[in-house]
Amino acid sequence: MNSYNIAVLPGDGTGPEVTQEAVKVLDAAAQKFGFKLNYTHFDFGGDRYLRTGEVLPDTAADDLRQFPAILLGAIGHPGVKPGILEKGILLRLRFELEQYINLRPVKLYDERYCPLKGKGPDHIDFVVVRENNEGLYTGSGGFVFKGTPNEIAVQESINTRRGVERCLRYAFDYARKRRGGKPWKGLKPEDVEAGKTAQLTLCGKTNVLTYAFDLWERAFHEIGAKDYPNIKRDYTHVDATTMWFVKNPEWFDVIVTDNMFGDIITDLGAMIQGGMGIAAGGNLNPEGTSMFEPIGGSAPKYTGMNVINPLAAICAGQMLLDHLGETEAGAAIEAAVITAVREKLKDLAAGRMGYSTSEVGDLIAGSL
Ligand code: IPM
Ligand code: MN
Repeated sequence: MNSYNIAVLPGDGTGPEVTQEAVKVLDAAAQKFGFKLNYTHFDFGGDRYLRTGEVLPDTAADDLRQFPAILLGAIGHPGVKPGILEKGILLRLRFELEQYINLRPVKLYDERYCPLKGKGPDHIDFVVVRENNEGLYTGSGGFVFKGTPNEIAVQESINTRRGVERCLRYAFDYARKRRGGKPWKGLKPEDVEAGKTAQLTLCGKTNVLTYAFDLWERAFHEIGAKDYPNIKRDYTHVDATTMWFVKNPEWFDVIVTDNMFGDIITDLGAMIQGGMGIAAGGNLNPEGTSMFEPIGGSAPKYTGMNVINPLAAICAGQMLLDHLGETEAGAAIEAAVITAVREKLKDLAAGRMGYSTSEVGDLIAGSL
């Protein structure tokens, strides 16, 4: 029987509640599909920081490297200044564990939850591959003359050929595999005739960021032309991308972009797929330890009330299983989530589901 060691970081606020439901569902899937999950809990988060003064032990990354996957609840505590925990835990782990991909599927399960008029599950089904280790997130830059009228603040976007290339290659590979070779339905007949099976859109800002996205664009076309002739290459500026997400989301198959743009467009993506109650993502190190999380925050005002929606955490669990190669179990969780969303839940928002947090977990676990 396959057995996997999973690190669990429930984190702050409602993180522990949703994580508990995700674990409940993972266990049900493990039992049904015949594998074993062994959990080790870590208490990183705001409470630990307030108690000990330490954001993250220096040994954390090395400890976590022993696990193939991490399940993360949420980071963010009302008693801690914004930025400390986000940078000190979430971003630090993404960097130290070299999770250079942030994979964020945007898939609408029921048209009731889409705020866009006339758009349904047929229109909203794409994936954003966000570069997760570089760009504006590295902390490169600084102040000069801080606190004086001559103050200067510089925040630099770091784009290495190696970092960009590994992200692009991941995205091309992902696009190629996404439908098992079955052509993406948004392709034009002439593209299909030319042998294309998928589309990868580079989202950038080549008209203004003429260094960073020049590198991205050159690498994109070089790699694509040489190694991925069957993937149709497409480009959109980031501002236009937000426009198309609202107007024509069906134009997208797989999107690849830098860290900052990926952060921004995936919040919009989450809203058109039904909101933070359902949106999940994976911080991937394809050669190492990956970390799966609901995209939403810790929602502290709902802490302990058993009203928050655990589906995003459950979907993070599904991505975790897919990543471990337990794809049948992952597909079963997705099917159960779809049924719950379409036929059971009244709403995806906290307190309006018609079910409590733990009842949603029971529902999904039960239907497995
Ligand atoms: C996300 C979050 C983080 C980010 C924050 C909490 C640092 O917004 O995962 O998208 O900006 O990456
Ligand atoms: Mn974000």
